[in-house]
Amino acid sequence: MQQITVKPCKALRGTTYIPGDKSVSHRSVMFAGLADTPVVIRNFLYAADCCSTISCMEALGVQVERRADGELCVQGNGLHGLKEPIGVLDAGNSGTTLRLLTGILACQPFFSVFSGDASLTKRPMARVIKPLSQMGCTIVGRQQSKYIPMALVPAAQIRGIDYTMPVASAQVKSAVLLAGLFAKGSTSVTEPFLSRDHTERMLESFGVPAKREGLTVSVAPVDSLTAPEVIEVPGDISSAAFWLVAGTILPNSRLLLRNVGINPTRTGILDVLTAMGANISLENERLSGAEPVADLLVQSAQLRGTEIKGEIIPRLIDEIPVLAVAALFAQGKTVISGAEELRVKETDRLKAVTAELGKLGAVLEEKADGLIIEGGQCLKFGVCHSHDDHRMAMSLAIAGLAGNGVEITEPECVRISYPDFFETLASLRAE
Ligand code: S3P
Repeated sequence: MQQITVKPCKALRGTTYIPGDKSVSHRSVMFAGLADTPVVIRNFLYAADCCSTISCMEALGVQVERRADGELCVQGNGLHGLKEPIGVLDAGNSGTTLRLLTGILACQPFFSVFSGDASLTKRPMARVIKPLSQMGCTIVGRQQSKYIPMALVPAAQIRGIDYTMPVASAQVKSAVLLAGLFAKGSTSVTEPFLSRDHTERMLESFGVPAKREGLTVSVAPVDSLTAPEVIEVPGDISSAAFWLVAGTILPNSRLLLRNVGINPTRTGILDVLTAMGANISLENERLSGAEPVADLLVQSAQLRGTEIKGEIIPRLIDEIPVLAVAALFAQGKTVISGAEELRVKETDRLKAVTAELGKLGAVLEEKADGLIIEGGQCLKFGVCHSHDDHRMAMSLAIAGLAGNGVEITEPECVRISYPDFFETLASLRAE
């Protein structure tokens, strides 16, 4: 697929099941692969990123049986049972695969090498290599060990550290905590703001206490993991985000989004949209294993501009491109700051959002760490580039839907996190 045209739409109506959470899907295969009893994973996200994690785990000697209906059965060889991979481990487009597995593999008594796609080779690795080196791991990579390709040298005994992270990053936190399982002594990580805590919750589900005190979390080394028989992956709120925004800004819309993860470290989008005047209600709140889920009912509403900064940023970091679209349709100004991490995602999202929405006639001011967006803008039709970034492609689709249509080049990148996105969009149109 070279390009796709999204026509404008009057309203979205209907019900959709939100696909499995990407962060939880990755972690479920990694954790299950470090256990020694089989784990069935339900509602696994069969999308390109999580498939990169499966392939890497298979290359490390873990058996993965792909079943129908989003089910997966993983049989690991225990915490110390990973095997030296014969080839280079390809993390594809996936920062989570790369950074979390680096935490695990840097502590192994064998050699491994990571590569990835063009986007991943530009993403910073020093943030993971630095704490792991302090623990005694040896990692060498391209450009003075800033980027992949990167080699992990067999580790002798590594030691626990108390690490204060300069940026709030769940991937860095997780890499250090996972390395901590193999270290001598306990390991703690302190973040400037709380980032998603799926690793901590999954550690607990696998019998490893993750002790939290404020912004610090610590783990002690263990001999083995005690795996649950089944992991139910909640729906991904980052995927639901596109419908939350579309259902709000398109008049006469009403969408029921089923089985959405509402882990408080991920619900910044709900807080911001609600503060902007959105009409979103949570129904049927329940627990899906270690993660809270609910069905979300969203109905059209007039939004007003807002300020997005500080501790909420890590809780909605992946939703900022689509929140920028919401802000275009709000009354008044929206100011986003403290979001410089967007510059090192699959693409530089601050630059890409400004440039691509600009092609639809939107005026946004790009700041070093955020965006300033005047509301009440009228969008025209335009041809926009996804930058091969899944969340850019889907955000542009929502802009075109609520504006005057859009042609998106390289739209197939939605396979990274939401392979059925365009089919779901077609099914929710109420013309
Ligand atoms: C993720 C953490 C976030 C997020 C990414 C997934 C994870 O990245 O943007 O999509 O699964 O841990 P950072 O840790 O780099 O902030």
